Amino acid sequence: MEARGKYGFEDPALRLLFTLAGTTGVRGLQSVVIAPRLFIGIQALNTLAGMGKAIARNNRVLIITDKIIRPSAEKVKEALEQVGYYVEMWDEVQPEPPVENILKGVETVKNNDASILIAVGGGSVIDATKVLWLLYERPDVDFRKISPIEPLGLRKKAIFVAIPTTAGTGSEATSAAVITEGGHKMSLTHPEFVPDIAILDPRFTVSLPPNLTLWTGVDALAHAVGAYLSGGWANEYTDAFALQALKLIFKFLPRAVADGKDLEARQKMLIAANLAGLAFSNSAPGIDHALGHTLGKKFGLHHGLCVGAFLPYVFEFYSKRLSKTEELAQALNYKNSEEFLDGLIEFYQKLGFVYKFSDYPQVTVDAFNAALPELVSWALIDPVTIVSPIPVTPKDYEEIFVAAFNGILKEGVK
Ligand SMILES: [Fe+2]
Repeated sequence: MEARGKYGFEDPALRLLFTLAGTTGVRGLQSVVIAPRLFIGIQALNTLAGMGKAIARNNRVLIITDKIIRPSAEKVKEALEQVGYYVEMWDEVQPEPPVENILKGVETVKNNDASILIAVGGGSVIDATKVLWLLYERPDVDFRKISPIEPLGLRKKAIFVAIPTTAGTGSEATSAAVITEGGHKMSLTHPEFVPDIAILDPRFTVSLPPNLTLWTGVDALAHAVGAYLSGGWANEYTDAFALQALKLIFKFLPRAVADGKDLEARQKMLIAANLAGLAFSNSAPGIDHALGHTLGKKFGLHHGLCVGAFLPYVFEFYSKRLSKTEELAQALNYKNSEEFLDGLIEFYQKLGFVYKFSDYPQVTVDAFNAALPELVSWALIDPVTIVSPIPVTPKDYEEIFVAAFNGILKEGVK
């Protein structure tokens, strides 16, 4: 597990300073909200084609994708070639992209001299493109040492367009990139990583199967709840983005799971995931992400599945300590946070979403018990824990892990 941290500070004292910067008193003095230009709907590609030549330094495009998504990426290539762009494609991005994989992509983009990089894919592809873009623009910089408070000066060679093919990670709206080095996950964050343009076209998500639609959807749900409850990191904008994301997810995720070809539900889920991405990128995710990163990596479970499954337990933990859980519940027309939690569980049950980890065959009782101390210590050093709205102890994390393994909420099995 990467201990260096999302914010690039190796010195623990600097990390503490960053935590302090998120406290209301400091944060209230200045907020920055960064968002891409959003082109939404089935005409979005045409808007990009029209605007691209005006804002990029030449008409050379590199599309970055993976082998599975390549057929969708070909449609982007065709649309741009028809109006005079020179387009190449690099389709070798691997899941949870290793650094060596990204370095191969950097060679391709250098040879191409592209001035528009277009990532077509899920979180891995978009995150890989952020780092590839950084290495293309700034070969002199050690990506491991970037800090969000030191400018990088990106965008001199290329602009960055993201076309998500899942509705969940929100990576097309965020300043974060998760990659892998030496088998360890590494989170890099820089405000300049936020793409210039995000294209939210539902035709790129219709082929996502129901299980991935569900897992990526509950990832977005966790982003929105976490962002809203993230203490001093949240502000009026992130609150608004998070609440609207939640309303859309509760309404449209069941439709998108039931019928992947439902274009309206797909469009609304893309918007919801984008809003949730804007919310947590400009505030912070909840500790469900620290727990989910850890358990997911240990047992090979999907990111969205893990963070979505931890969400009810984390919400219950927060509800005993944060008054903002009541505000969230009431904004969504629940009487109180307890009713919101009931509503969340009912929502999961209707979707058939399993939020008790012992029900997943990978997570056996012996393996879980053996891994528990390691899981707790990894979660404590996860970068997300640094920006937790309340301090978290090893005992807190152990209790949440155990509750989520056994499916115990509100002192009883749900
Ligand atoms: Fe996430």
